[in-house]
Parts: sequence; C-alpha cells; structure tokens
Amino acid sequence: MRSNTPAAAAAYEDGPIRAFALMAVVWGIVGMLVGVVSAAQLAFPDLTAGIPWLSYGRLRPLHTNAVIFAFGGCVLFATSYHVVQRTGLTRLFLPKLAWFTFWGWQLVILLAAVTLPLGITQGKEYAELEWPIDLLIAVVWVAYAVVFFGTVGIRKVKHIYVANWFFGAFIIAVALLHIVNSAAVPVGLWKSYSAYAGVQDAMVQWWYGHNAVGFFLTAGFLGIMYYYIPKQAERPVYSYRLSIVHFWALIFTYMWAGPHHLHYTALPDWAQSLGMVFSLVLLAPSWGGMINGIMTLSGAWHKLRDDPVLKFLIVSLSFYGMSTFEGPMMSIKTVNALSHYTDWTIGHVHSGALGWVGLVSMGALYAMIPRLWGLPGMHSKRAIELHFWIATLGIVLYIAAMWIAGVMQGLMWRATHADGTLVYSFVESVKATYPYYLIRLLGGLLYLGGMGVMAWNVWMTVRGRQAPVMVPKLAAA
Ligand code: HEM
Ligand code: HEM
Repeated sequence: MRSNTPAAAAAYEDGPIRAFALMAVVWGIVGMLVGVVSAAQLAFPDLTAGIPWLSYGRLRPLHTNAVIFAFGGCVLFATSYHVVQRTGLTRLFLPKLAWFTFWGWQLVILLAAVTLPLGITQGKEYAELEWPIDLLIAVVWVAYAVVFFGTVGIRKVKHIYVANWFFGAFIIAVALLHIVNSAAVPVGLWKSYSAYAGVQDAMVQWWYGHNAVGFFLTAGFLGIMYYYIPKQAERPVYSYRLSIVHFWALIFTYMWAGPHHLHYTALPDWAQSLGMVFSLVLLAPSWGGMINGIMTLSGAWHKLRDDPVLKFLIVSLSFYGMSTFEGPMMSIKTVNALSHYTDWTIGHVHSGALGWVGLVSMGALYAMIPRLWGLPGMHSKRAIELHFWIATLGIVLYIAAMWIAGVMQGLMWRATHADGTLVYSFVESVKATYPYYLIRLLGGLLYLGGMGVMAWNVWMTVRGRQAPVMVPKLAAA
C-alpha cells in the first residue's frame, strides 16, 4: 500500500482498517448465525442432537463473544483508526503495531471460537475466556492504546475532535474493566478461579458487565456516531457544546450503574439503590447524545429519503434512544422484580444490540468501505436499501416478540391464588412462550439475511480493486 513517493510518505495507513472492516462483516455473519442457531434451539431443544460442543450452553457464550468482541470489536478498531487519522490529519502511529493489533485480535477470536464450544470458560458473562486468552487480550489492548493515543499525539490539528474522546474513553475503560475483572488464580492451562469471592465477585463482575455495555457497546459506537453522521449528512454536529457535556456526563454516570444487575441479591440494599439512581440519571446524557446526533440532520432531513446509509445511522439512534429509555425503567427495583429472569431482558438487549450497535456499525461500514478503496460508493445502493428494510423488520419482530413473551412470563410467574399457591407451573410459561420463540427466530433470520446481502455488496465493491494511497487533506474522506 505504501510507495516511496513524497506524498505517500505522509499517506494514511489504511491497510489494517481495510482488514478490520472486512473481518467485521465475516464475524458479523458468524456471530449472528450462531445467534440464529441458539434461537432455534430455544424453540426446538433437540436441534443439535445432544452433541456437547453444539449445546445451547456453549453456543450462547460463543454468540455473545462473537457479536460483541469479534463483530463489534473489528468495527471499533476499523472506525477508530479511520477517524483518528482523518480528524488529526496524520497517519497511524506505529503502523506495524496497528497490524499487530489486527492479527492479535483475530487470534483472540479464533481461540474463543475453539475454547468456548469445548466448554472451557470462567463462567463470568462477557468475560468467559480463560486466563491465557485474557493475557493476550490485555497485550493487544495495550498495543491498541499505544497506536490510538500515539496517533492523537502526532496529530497535525490542535483540537481533538469529540469522536476521539469517546474512542479514547472506550479504550481506557475497557482496559481497566478487563484487567480488574479478569484477575484470577490459574490452576492449570485452561482453568482458573476468580480472585474475588461471593458478593464481591458478583459486584466486580457486574461493574464490568454493565460498563462493557457502557463503554464497549456505547461509548465507542458514539465515537462512530459523532464522525460518520456529520460526514454522511455533510452537516456539522448539531451542538458541539452538547457533545462535550454528553461525553463527561455519560462516562461519569455509567461507572456507578452496575448494581442494577444485582437487585434483590445479597448485595447491600443501599448499593442496589445507588445503582438504580445512577441508571435513572443515565437517561439524560443518553438522550442528550441521541438528540445531538439526530438533530445534526436538521435542515437536511430530505437526505434521509434517498441515502440508505444515513437511514442506517439515524435509525440506529432511535433504537439507542429506545433502549436507553427502557434500561433506566428496568433498573427501577419494582419493574426489575417483573423483568429480571424473563425474555424482556433479552428484548432490551437486542433493541440495543441489533438496533443501535448493529445498525450504526453497518452504516459506518457502508460509509467507510468505498472510501477506503477509493470509490464514490458501494457497488449497489439498492442492496443497501434492501438490507436496511429487512434488518429493521427483523429487529421489530425480534424485540416485539421478546417484550410480549417477557411481560407474559413475569406475570405468569407471580400469579397466585387467594391461598398463595401458584396459578401456573413453570412449564406452562415455557409452553406459552413457544410462539414468540418462533417469531424471534424469524426476526433473527431476517437480520442475518441482511448481513448476507451486505457481504455480497461488500465483495462486489472491493473485489479486484487496488487499494489507493490517500494523503491527509482538510476535506479528506
Ligand atoms: C441474527 C441476529 C441475532 C440473533 C438471532 C440472536 C439471538 C440470541 C439468542 C437466542 C440469545 C440467548 C437468549 C436467551 O438467553 O434467552 C442471545 C443473547 C445475546 N445476544 Fe444475540 N442475537 C443476534 C444478534 C446479536 C447482536 C448483533 C448482538 C450484539 C451486538 C447480540 C448480543 C447478545 C447478548 C449481549 C446476549 C446475552 C443477553 C443476556 O444475557 O441477557 N446479539 N442472542
Ligand atoms: C441508560 C442506559 C441503560 C440502562 C440504565 C440499562 C439498564 C439495564 C437493566 C436494568 C438491565 C437488566 C438487568 C437485570 O435485570 O439483570 C439491563 C440489561 C442489559 N442491558 Fe441495558 N441498559 C441501558 C442501555 C443498554 C444498551 C444501549 C445496551 C446495548 C447496546 C444494553 C445492553 C444490555 C445487556 C447486554 C443486558 C443484559 C445483561 C445480562 O444480564 O447479561 N443496555 N440493562
């Protein structure tokens, strides 16, 4: 990609970005396929014929790791490297180290794909991988921080654009969360015990778990929102001042909300209430950010009509708004008494995951990929439009089915006769959920189908093309 011309000496280092962007599509398909299989297993429990490494208990963590860390992770590496160079008018700091992060991260993913089906796990949600892989993640992450902050350090523009603040906070917070929550005592190559015990272990785990949502699935993707929406809409951010308030309020508040995952547990009551209050406060910065993103389109709403990439980016924000309204409601103890353990949680998760994280990622990839290959746009605009509509339909089916199923389960479980006996047995609630599992499966298949359309479109766009050398300039893409 590099040549010896004087211009190329200062050219952007886009090789690792192209690699991460393509692998994001590949891992997206793999992770969502495993999600579809898990959804099918819940409707048809005998589907995988009792083969242990295809059992639901092993495929489920494979799904969450693949979609969050493989798909989401590759999107975040690609976009942060893309944005930090463009907004700093400089090339990546230590390009070889950036390549190391690419290969290191792919190795982490492969090791996860082998160990999780084998049942090798620490049993902590979103932190299942065993200690040798955790060490590799820590090394890759430190390298990522060096490349990202090094690039910020050598920028040619005085100001640090707000998207980089969000990416930076995401990188620092994830390092902190990962290192603290993964502290463990190894008792063999593939077995370790947590360094914490009892309720402290649970609290550290959900401090990690909630901030994995807050920083991995939110702050990083807000960095994407703050660059790709203004770029695609060709408008400045609606309020730059609001974006700064949004940043500080969001990162301060998220850190305290973890206890809402542990309502009615052995965790002290005051800590549960603290988590609830901070979760309610979290509504404000979340909606501030959403409004800032959507209002960036003011005066240019007509662009939504014929730019499908903008549709992905803007609709993702409506789902962000929806899930960050729902989350604070679910953190209220009395509401959580109904929602916890039910499919309502799964509906909430996927309105955030499919609606916000998925759509904003796809929008950013569609915006970025043609530019990385020096093209004006993707191979087929109609295919992007098709992808948008089937993905949106898939999300609606998925989350509506889970909301109805969840509230129904919660109500069935708490229904009692006058003498205190249960109205329904547990298995009756499982039976009543069956149709909703079928609808969710259909929604998942549609969403996965959309990714298939995307893979075809990406392939048709990049195949046989030479990657161009691009030099920093003010109007750089
Ligand atoms: C085709 C798309 C997808 C399908 C069919 C699907 C399906 C599923 C299923 C069946 C479960 C287990 C539900 C349960 O325990 O009852 C699950 C869990 C989960 N999925 Fe997905 N998923 C999809 C996409 C995604 C994406 C793109 C993300 C993230 C970016 C994601 C994140 C999660 C998370 C975090 C959980 C765990 C939820 C919890 O423990 O409460 N999923 N998914
Ligand atoms: C203001 C923002 C948010 C708040 C206050 C919030 C709050 C909550 C609450 C109360 C739960 C249920 C905990 C339980 O009963 O165990 C939950 C679960 C969850 N939320 Fe959110 N949420 C927010 C935004 C989001 C977003 C944007 C996403 C995804 C991108 C997300 C992903 C998840 C996941 C993955 C879980 C399931 C965790 C598990 O049990 O495995 N949340 N959230």
